[in-house]
Amino acid sequence: MNVLVTGGAGYIGSHVVRLLSESGNYVISVDDLSTGIGDRLDCEAVDLTLEDPTSIKRLTDLLVEKNIEVVIHFAARKQVGESVEKPEFYFQSNIGGLANLLTAMRQAEVKKLVFSSSAAVYGMPDVEKVTELDKTEPINPYGQTKLVGEWMINNASVWGLSAVSLRYFNVAGAGWPELADKQALNLIPIILDRIERGESVLVFGDNYPTDDGSCIRDYIHVLDLARAHIDAIDQLGEPGNQVYNVGTGEGSSVFEVIAEIKKVSGIDFDVEIAGPRAGDPPKLVASNAKISKEFGWKAEFGLSEIVNSAWKAKES
Ligand code: WQD
Repeated sequence: MNVLVTGGAGYIGSHVVRLLSESGNYVISVDDLSTGIGDRLDCEAVDLTLEDPTSIKRLTDLLVEKNIEVVIHFAARKQVGESVEKPEFYFQSNIGGLANLLTAMRQAEVKKLVFSSSAAVYGMPDVEKVTELDKTEPINPYGQTKLVGEWMINNASVWGLSAVSLRYFNVAGAGWPELADKQALNLIPIILDRIERGESVLVFGDNYPTDDGSCIRDYIHVLDLARAHIDAIDQLGEPGNQVYNVGTGEGSSVFEVIAEIKKVSGIDFDVEIAGPRAGDPPKLVASNAKISKEFGWKAEFGLSEIVNSAWKAKES
């Protein structure tokens, strides 16, 4: 199969590229390396910024020339805090980039897409486990761009686009040490970074209505998430956009993550309780019933494998 991956030099994108390449597919990555890392790439690659107006023609030509059958779209800005500071930049990049990609796919008559969406579309759901039928009320521009992206993809069924949108929960770990998440922007890489720098680890609030007072999230191994993208391709065919949560269905609190990292690293690092972070829901755990039923997909790894793989990557 000929697959074009946007953001193939990124943390998640590079894991999907490797799985696709290893199973004999032709893969080409389109990435401007603004946040991706070139060394991660082990496939043909083109330097292209999706939100650049000239990208439509370049992408259309590429899709036709390489006889692309499926596109997997990762390339987007994904920092919640940054999106609050620079909302226009996020809409320009994430929505503009997707609009250009869809325009090119329509012109090249490429009608299969897997889209990287996010649990951020739910905002602060007040349910035990979030299902795809729960309200989507994003509370930050990043989450809004992912929801609007899903709407844009819904509309593209008018020209026959068949899509799957995967709503990621909290991805972490490393399938291969060299593909680890190098940006310390989420809990686990932030903790590993602070251990390395000998700094205390901050817990943003310990007074939430949870068993130990800290926030609960659904941490999913990047390899499990990558496999969901491969499984999604087989679901494509009929015009329309099917949305799936991708999470383990199990929650871990910040304190539980900290305890796991102390166990794996053998380092009893200092922990400080800081104030709660605006916009943090006390609990965000996926119902993964839909993807399990329709894809036969299930998470193979839990928190200990996630932390082990992240720690090994940090040490390597
Ligand atoms: C996890 C928990 C923090 C750092 C974000 C995006 C979401 C998705 C995943 C892209 C929270 C706490 C964190 C720290 C802490 N990204 N924390 N100390 O906010 O659940 O989700 O990343 O799709 O869209 O919103 O992830 O890793 O930032 O935080 O206590 O130093 O860890 O308060 O409860 P989050 P996170």
